[in-house]
Amino acid sequence: MNTLNSMETVIIDVWDETPDIKSFLVNDVIGVLPNPGQFYELRIFGRGEIPISYGNYYDGKLLFSIKNVGYVTSYFHRLRSGDKVGIRGPYGNGWEIHDGRTVLIGGGIGLPPLSSYIERMIKMNRKDIHLLYGARTPGDIVYKEKLKKWKDLFRVDVTVDRGDETWDGNVGVVTTIFNRIEWKDARFYIIGPEVMMKFAVKELLKMGIDEGKIYLSMERKMKCGYGICGHCNIGRFYVCRDGPVFRYDLIKDIPESFH
Ligand SMILES: Cc1cc2nc3c(=O)[nH]c(=O)nc-3n(C[C@H](O)[C@H](O)[C@H](O)COP(=O)(O)OP(=O)(O)OC[C@H]3O[C@@H](n4cnc5c(N)ncnc54)[C@H](O)[C@@H]3O)c2cc1C
Ligand code: FES
Repeated sequence: MNTLNSMETVIIDVWDETPDIKSFLVNDVIGVLPNPGQFYELRIFGRGEIPISYGNYYDGKLLFSIKNVGYVTSYFHRLRSGDKVGIRGPYGNGWEIHDGRTVLIGGGIGLPPLSSYIERMIKMNRKDIHLLYGARTPGDIVYKEKLKKWKDLFRVDVTVDRGDETWDGNVGVVTTIFNRIEWKDARFYIIGPEVMMKFAVKELLKMGIDEGKIYLSMERKMKCGYGICGHCNIGRFYVCRDGPVFRYDLIKDIPESFH
């Protein structure tokens, strides 16, 4: 959908994931099956527009999970079921569905875009995935119900930076559970805060993982979402059009890829 005009859709349901992340279920009025890891531009009329990855697509409905970090996202957090928002997309390349094993590494609000990949794999009856997910605290873990369900289907390891009395799992940043990775021949799909992705890549390279097997989903400020305004570039690439998913060896030498 290469236009700056949004279509109007209705929020069917909204709920809290964590103290600062809400999930929104909306009707898909566009009617294009998105690739896992693609994103949409969501608009609150009169307030602004933001790029948001979808977390799941089923029965003509799209799931989005939005962290309250600033101006537009704070308005999203005030919305209720029945409210209308604008939507255009899907944009970007997303995670390629590939035939072999995939290790998925996510931090914080990075889980929703991995969820779209996982849910597609489940539909295909694929179990050759290993998810490693890190959140700041147990209360910051998103998609708790999905994580429970996924644990019965494939390997899932979750860690938190700071534990509490409810937590009996690993405490430490996500790289502290990399010793649980058994598939060195896998593809590695990583998404999360830039600093987390930087350390994750460093650790994987130390473990002997090939650079060409590491894929990162990058975040930049966006305007158009489909390669016309030039707001989102990393070197010669536009994150909206050529990404957000990039193979590590293609961007590693571009100075602004990691700030
Ligand atoms: C492809 C893509 C997919 C995304 N998917 C999700 C998602 O699924 N869920 C989610 O919660 N967020 C997602 N984001 C991030 C989200 O778009 C931003 O948090 C949002 O645009 C912030 O808008 P705001 O007006 O609330 O913040 P502002 O008031 O504009 O800014 C608040 C702070 O966030 C920083 N910021 C704003 N936008 C970005 C950005 N794009 N990249 C890095 N820093 C930024 C600003 O510099 C500032 O420090 C995604 C971003 C991209 C590029
Ligand atoms: S947001 Fe306009 S070129 Fe990427």
